[in-house]
Amino acid sequence: MNFSDFDQKSYKPQTELLKDKVILVTGAGDGIGRAAAKAYAHHGATLILLGKTTGKLEQTYDAIEKAGGAIPAIYPMDLQGATPKDYQKLAEVLTREFGRLDGLLHNASYLGTLSPIENQDIETWYKVQQVNVNASFMLTQSCLPLLKAADSASVIFTSSAVGRKARAYWGAYAVSKFATEGLMQVLADELESNTKVRSNSINPGATRTSMRADAYPAEDPSSLKTPEQIMPVYLYLMGADSCNVNGQALNAQ
Ligand SMILES: NC(=O)c1ccc[n+]([C@@H]2O[C@H](COP(=O)([O-])OP(=O)(O)OC[C@H]3O[C@@H](n4cnc5c(N)ncnc54)[C@H](OP(=O)(O)O)[C@@H]3O)[C@@H](O)[C@H]2O)c1
Repeated sequence: MNFSDFDQKSYKPQTELLKDKVILVTGAGDGIGRAAAKAYAHHGATLILLGKTTGKLEQTYDAIEKAGGAIPAIYPMDLQGATPKDYQKLAEVLTREFGRLDGLLHNASYLGTLSPIENQDIETWYKVQQVNVNASFMLTQSCLPLLKAADSASVIFTSSAVGRKARAYWGAYAVSKFATEGLMQVLADELESNTKVRSNSINPGATRTSMRADAYPAEDPSSLKTPEQIMPVYLYLMGADSCNVNGQALNAQ
């Protein structure tokens, strides 16, 4: 595998990088997803904000509107309980409203509880795989016709350091991120020859969000990069500058 490092400092996205693009972000109400939705809107995209908590999605909506971005769409959806029918319905709504999808950022994730495999709670294992892997698979599958309808489309999966090199006690979450890398690669290989859809992953690295605080409660959050600071790679992979990048695993830091 080629885990290329992205040079955050040298990448300067054009202001209109994502002009008129239609982009769906999962987990758009908080943390990295919220920052990505705002950054994409700032660069000209119309966003579909998908997430669990409607109030948080509304906050992202308000921030985008206040900053002068295109009015986004809010799509509340709990990826834990969503069924194939729910994804089909979402695809139908998107087809009706937009007719295509230029970008899909799989960002929402569930950390679960860190524990040794020996003690891993089985119910938690299922829940983690459902949100982090099964939901990404079903959402990708239902959106593929929309992605193929775009002139050029980007699917971005969110990985983690523990999805590339495993670490003790990260159990269900680490395994879900390895599966995420696998899904990204299988998709990239399938799309390589006959479509203009590309598939890549990002490892955000340690970032100041509530998920990070849950995993490292004793850590000083001010020592970490903010979601806004890691946006260059999210913009690079979403925009035309990466049109020939497929099947790659990038690092945000
Ligand atoms: N922060 C880091 O240091 C770090 C490091 C490596 C990888 N990552 C990855 O980066 C991504 C973003 O994480 P983050 O740090 O920004 O976490 P975060 O602030 O906790 O945000 C996670 C987002 O996922 C949404 N979400 C969780 N469960 C969901 C469900 N069942 N249905 C729909 N949405 C759901 C949350 O919505 P609600 O708020 O409504 O629950 C929230 O918007 C994740 O894939 C994570 O694994 C983060």
